[in-house]
Order: sequence, then structure tokens, then C-alpha cells
Amino acid sequence: MGTHEPYAKELNNLLDEMQIEAMREQFTRVKELMTYYHCAMLEMETKLNVLNEQFALQNERNPIESIKSRLKSMSSIQDKLRRNGHTVSIDNIEEFLSDVAGIRVICSFVDDIYMLADCLSEQDDIEILARKDYIKNPKPNGYRSLHLIVQIPIFLQNEKKLMRVEVQLRTIAMEFWANLEHKLRYKKNLGEKTEIEIEKGLKECADISAELDAKMYEIRNKISR
Ligand code: GTP
Ligand code: MG
Repeated sequence: MGTHEPYAKELNNLLDEMQIEAMREQFTRVKELMTYYHCAMLEMETKLNVLNEQFALQNERNPIESIKSRLKSMSSIQDKLRRNGHTVSIDNIEEFLSDVAGIRVICSFVDDIYMLADCLSEQDDIEILARKDYIKNPKPNGYRSLHLIVQIPIFLQNEKKLMRVEVQLRTIAMEFWANLEHKLRYKKNLGEKTEIEIEKGLKECADISAELDAKMYEIRNKISR
């Protein structure tokens, strides 16, 4: 046994080193992947800014109020993969998650949202992989927005890589409601009766916000086309 020990120790050291090397490799790949998502997000933002500028030239107003982008955090990525029954791996991030890169486009009017979505769908370098229209079909809680999963190429040194970006388009009123609803969602444990009342209240607010959007649109159409 005594003669085994130095050998075992060496083997352990080697295994440790191999593990560290494997971890280092994984770390590099994750960093690389997140950089690609960041690049895809920048490309997508540029497309939206270009559309905004061009529309402003013709119509003397901006369809986009503001754009917010975010990369999903590592812990949210892990949570979502696990929640959906997938093991946490770099390949699974790319295969199963469409919202690692997310862009929120806040528009002035509802028709601007559809105009932008139509313009994007006509661009021949990108592909709309999925479209969820929660404006025409709001969620039961009242949530409204247009969601697109867009596939966009990024051009690296030696290759072209197709990345997915989630684009959420909404009006200022939709954004106002969604932000407050998101904040209030975690303040639960108030008792069933109160929670039902809150849900009802939020749904009413969502309906009012939809009415507000419709009225503003009507007023704008009186002023210009
Ligand atoms: P996620 O697993 O949350 O990504 O949902 P999903 O894959 O079913 O997609 P969906 O298009 O329904 O929602 C995607 C994103 O839209 C969410 O991550 C939120 O940012 C937003 N969202 C969807 N529903 C709601 C809602 O009821 N309230 C708020 N505040 N945001 C919502
Ligand atoms: Mg999401």
C-alpha cells in the first residue's frame, strides 16, 4: 500500500488538472456564446434603429420611444433549462432557449408595432421563427405585447453564425402595465380573497390601458394619417 501512495497522489493531481482544464474550456465556450448573443442583440438593435430613422424621415415622428436590451443571467439560464427538464449544458442553451438575448421595443402607437414587425419579416437576412400576438389575443391576466423570435446572422472571423433573439414590442401603456404587474406578482401570500381582488384589479387596469392605446391612436389619426 505504501508503494501505491505516491502514484495515487500523482494520478489525483493529474485528474485535478484535467478537471480544471475542462472547466476552463467550458468557461471559454460560455463566454464565447454569450458574446455571440450580445453581438446578435446589437445587430437587432441596429436594425430597429435604422427602421426608426427611416420612418421618421417620411412621417416626421419616431415610431420607437425607446429600446431596452438585456442578456439573460447565468442563473436565470440554469433555472429555465432545469425548469423545462433539460440538463445545463452549452449545447442545450443554444438548442432550447430563445430568450438569452432579449430586446424590448417601446412604441408610441399599436400600429407602429405591426409596422415594425412587418418590416422585420421582409428583411431577407433574418427569419422570424415564432410570433406570439398577445395584443390581438391578450393573456388571461391582461398582458399585451407582440413577441417575435428572430434568427439573425452574425459574421465572425471565419464563419457566419445564426443566433436567436427575442423581440418584445409594446406600447408605453403596455410597458407601464407589464412593469407594475411584474413587480406585484412577487408580493403574494396575501390570502386567496385579496389575491383574486388584485388579479381582477390588474385585469381592469390592462383593459383601461388597451382603451388608452385605442384612444391615443384615434386622436393621432385625426391629426395625421
Ligand atoms: P418564458 O418562459 O417566461 O420565457 O415564457 P414563454 O416561453 O411561454 O414565452 P412568452 O412569450 O409567453 O413570454 C416571454 C416573456 O414575455 C416573459 O419572459 C416576460 O418577459 C414576458 N411576459 C409574458 N407574460 C407576461 C405577463 O403576464 N406579465 C409580464 N409582466 N410579462 C410577461
Ligand atoms: Mg423569458
